[in-house]
Amino acid sequence: MKTFSGLLCLALALAWPAFAAPAPATAKDTTTLSVVTLNLYHDKLDWPNRRTQIVQTLRELHPDAIALEEVLQHDKLPNQAQWLAEQLGYDWYFASVDTPGAAQRYGNALLTRRPILAREQIRLNPLDDSRTAGRLRLDVDGHAVNLYVTHLHWTQAGGALRERQLQDLLAWVEKTADGAPSLLAGDFNASADAPELAALRSGFGDSYGSLHGAKDRRADSTLNPKFNPPKRIDHVFFQRERFEPVSSRILFQKPDANGVWASDHFGLVSTFRLAPSATADAQRPWTDRALAPDRRAALLVQAMTQDEKFQMLHSYFGLGKDGGPLPPGALGSAGFVPAIERLGIAAQQLADAGVGVTNPGNVRPGDHATALPSGPATAATWNRDLAFAGGATMGREAWQQGFNVLLAGSVNLQRDPRNGRNFEYAGEDPLLAGVMVGESIRGVQSQRVVSTMKHFAMNDLETGRNTHSADIGEQAMHESDLLAFELALKIGEPGSVMCSYNRINGIYGCEHDYLLNKVLKQEWKFPGYVMSDWGGVHSGSKAALAGLDQQSAGEVFDKAVYFDQPLRLAVAGGTVPQARLDDMVRRILRAFIATGSFDHPPQRQPIDDVAGGAAVQKVVEEGTVLLRNERDTLPLPRTLRRIAVIGGHADKGVIGGGGSSMVGFTVNGANAVPGLAPTTWPGPVMFHPSSPLQALRKAMPDAQIDYASGDDVAAAAKLARGAEAVIVFATQWSAESVDLPDIKLPGKQDALIAAMAKANPRTVVVLETNGPVAMPWLQQVPAVLEAWYPGIRGGEALARLLLGEANPSGRLPVTWLRDVAQLPRPSIPGLGFKPAQPAGSNVDYDIEGANVGYRWFAARGLDPLYAFGHGLSYTRFDYANLSVQVDGSTVIASFDVRNSGEREGADVPQLYLRLPQGHHTPIRLVGWDKLTLKPGETRRVSIVAEPKTLADYDPAQRQWRIAAGDYELVLGRSATQAAASVPLRLQESVLPR
Ligand code: NOJ
Repeated sequence: MKTFSGLLCLALALAWPAFAAPAPATAKDTTTLSVVTLNLYHDKLDWPNRRTQIVQTLRELHPDAIALEEVLQHDKLPNQAQWLAEQLGYDWYFASVDTPGAAQRYGNALLTRRPILAREQIRLNPLDDSRTAGRLRLDVDGHAVNLYVTHLHWTQAGGALRERQLQDLLAWVEKTADGAPSLLAGDFNASADAPELAALRSGFGDSYGSLHGAKDRRADSTLNPKFNPPKRIDHVFFQRERFEPVSSRILFQKPDANGVWASDHFGLVSTFRLAPSATADAQRPWTDRALAPDRRAALLVQAMTQDEKFQMLHSYFGLGKDGGPLPPGALGSAGFVPAIERLGIAAQQLADAGVGVTNPGNVRPGDHATALPSGPATAATWNRDLAFAGGATMGREAWQQGFNVLLAGSVNLQRDPRNGRNFEYAGEDPLLAGVMVGESIRGVQSQRVVSTMKHFAMNDLETGRNTHSADIGEQAMHESDLLAFELALKIGEPGSVMCSYNRINGIYGCEHDYLLNKVLKQEWKFPGYVMSDWGGVHSGSKAALAGLDQQSAGEVFDKAVYFDQPLRLAVAGGTVPQARLDDMVRRILRAFIATGSFDHPPQRQPIDDVAGGAAVQKVVEEGTVLLRNERDTLPLPRTLRRIAVIGGHADKGVIGGGGSSMVGFTVNGANAVPGLAPTTWPGPVMFHPSSPLQALRKAMPDAQIDYASGDDVAAAAKLARGAEAVIVFATQWSAESVDLPDIKLPGKQDALIAAMAKANPRTVVVLETNGPVAMPWLQQVPAVLEAWYPGIRGGEALARLLLGEANPSGRLPVTWLRDVAQLPRPSIPGLGFKPAQPAGSNVDYDIEGANVGYRWFAARGLDPLYAFGHGLSYTRFDYANLSVQVDGSTVIASFDVRNSGEREGADVPQLYLRLPQGHHTPIRLVGWDKLTLKPGETRRVSIVAEPKTLADYDPAQRQWRIAAGDYELVLGRSATQAAASVPLRLQESVLPR
């Protein structure tokens, strides 16, 4: 019977249309929540032998959630939380601990079988890095519930530290609880009369727990709200509002014959009932923050008129039509949807884009924002925290300028260095791009601003982007571009996905039933809404039924506002069911509720330029790639007295990309080099006012640092000859809507660099480019830095890198080719501003299929100039003692990294999988780490491979499957430079959805 109903559910799930509402319109009134708290400290628990018993017990209990304390993250053993979650079919979230130098890392984890609405973690006290807390916000039968977990051994901590941990925890709970009932599960190991417990109780309210006496080894469980344990206390639940205890039981332990409890590591299972909300407004039930977003959105939809629903389905161009006035209420940006004040629905104000908040044409006089480094710069840091911080910077500034949607999250793969929008993306590898963009989206939304993820999908060239068909097989698409989207979606949980202009296998991105309904909404369970790109809609009912939820600025960019009159007729005539219309509206509203934007609408205020600048500087310092450094030319000695800086407008600023993402107004002012062609769309060519020359002069006040533009090569050469070192800045502008004709540096820059190298052997080249460029002068210059587009602190950060105040740790997120002849499509019709040929109607991506970038080079035996993952440092790193453990689809590589040089620096050890002979893909990046080491310091590192990179996508079954076989795991400095490798045998397995 169980099997039958399981099968029936599966059949129903598959047959159910993508627009079926996932949540009931009414929530159960008698909702209960059962939670287990369990300490997994493995030494005492005897984990390898007891894990089966633990799983069995947990299976029988079938709790809503499990709070685990002292979970071993990795090394020696596969992650316990992940393993348990896989066995139980639960989702899991780990609040990790990064203890520098420790081989074993402990933390807390939360497992649940309920939908996760939000996940977050905090390090409680910077002085004691072994203490963390995690939070999940869950949807329990339509109710939003917060579950916190922590593990605090107060007995070991000093008074002041204790105080701070507690304050951190309570302040964090206060900030994040956000109107929903909250439960804290933890292992506290404290004296029952400890002031901390009393403080927690007053911060939360009631507590329910198990206790044991250290001396008399007595155990008990109590559900008395006035809980007052006599001696010591281990596992406790604290609750804030609305939980009523139902039952509680101690797990896994029995007293021995003498009544002594064998170990203090046991668990507790408790069940709570949710009491009705006291604060809910009966007239406006959707305002109750203790309800789950789906339910709140469904309640709102119920309250809306048909006109109000249609109002939500299309935005207006937020800059006005044909140069006319802005739509009433619009702040001035890419898009605007009017408010529905009657229901408390705020206007949707949509701002571009992914490298900062734009202010097109200074439509909002006085507004400025932080210009972030370009996407490849962030990707080149390989540092997830920096990607998050960049996203949080943009999100914060969007909110502070009144926007609740940021059109960020660009994750199209770099298949060709000539793509004019590569500067918005995150390189060629699906794992790296997916993780880094996912973190950036998470950062944006941490500021209660909805982020998009775009451009879905295969918008990998700008040439003919509105018409061309990107042709590619399903499996290849899933193992490349779609994997990047899938990972970014999982990590970032964007409220919205923007469908792309182009066609995919003949069908427009915004009416692609397979991509929008089947893959995005059904397979990936995306709960948010799909918005179109501006001018990407070609139909009403067809697009709506294919999964598009909101048409963007159709009155300006499309042939019709399809999602107004045409869709009204389609709904009235029954072509589009009313249920689908309601689903579209609910998805939109849900995104604003789930990100917190609905309850915390933006409030205009001055942005924090200092914090923004600091985030940018960090990205440039970690994302600039030292490509070449012969004879340790860099860093430049501070003893130099005469330096020549040449070209690239380095006296004024650093270049940025063009199009909708261009940030034109910053704290330092507008364009530093106005007037360069093209001055109109997708221009103007932008130089952010952050001058490397000025920064160098400031850093070396005693040196004479002269500048020549390079327009007069002879004059520049004279300057170079008279200097002790020369720094040439070279720029390549690129922009949305147009691809680059080739990979050459524009103008006469190649000749200028060659002339400087001839004039002075100590010539350093700094590239500010969209991506890889040809370097015909490479052998003549000893050092080259790739700075991408470095944003508003580019000048300062580059000066620090050149002078060794910062040590470069960027690694290429793309393969640096030698020649376009090495590309899958050496010649593409229609490239550039004045193409000799028209754009083609199809782009054949099946040539390389899933083998994008380094995979293509490996499959074809091609030799790159610099491999994917390459990047030098001012210090050296050695690797030793590589070992691997395999447990199902969990593959963990552990090894030692040693800084064997003389400077502190950060390294990016990379883990690649070599697939068995004859496999369609020869090599894949499966994981990496980034760590900073002092000179002489060694650290053991463990990298857990992303399971999907071990697997192939099976389009027939629509699942990821690991093929049994003999693989090789390679620890590398880049995709071509192996430091060590081990054989790896994998068993056949299907990855859980
Ligand atoms: C078109 C671009 O492709 C997209 O990225 C951008 O967000 C919209 N225009 C709005 O400006």
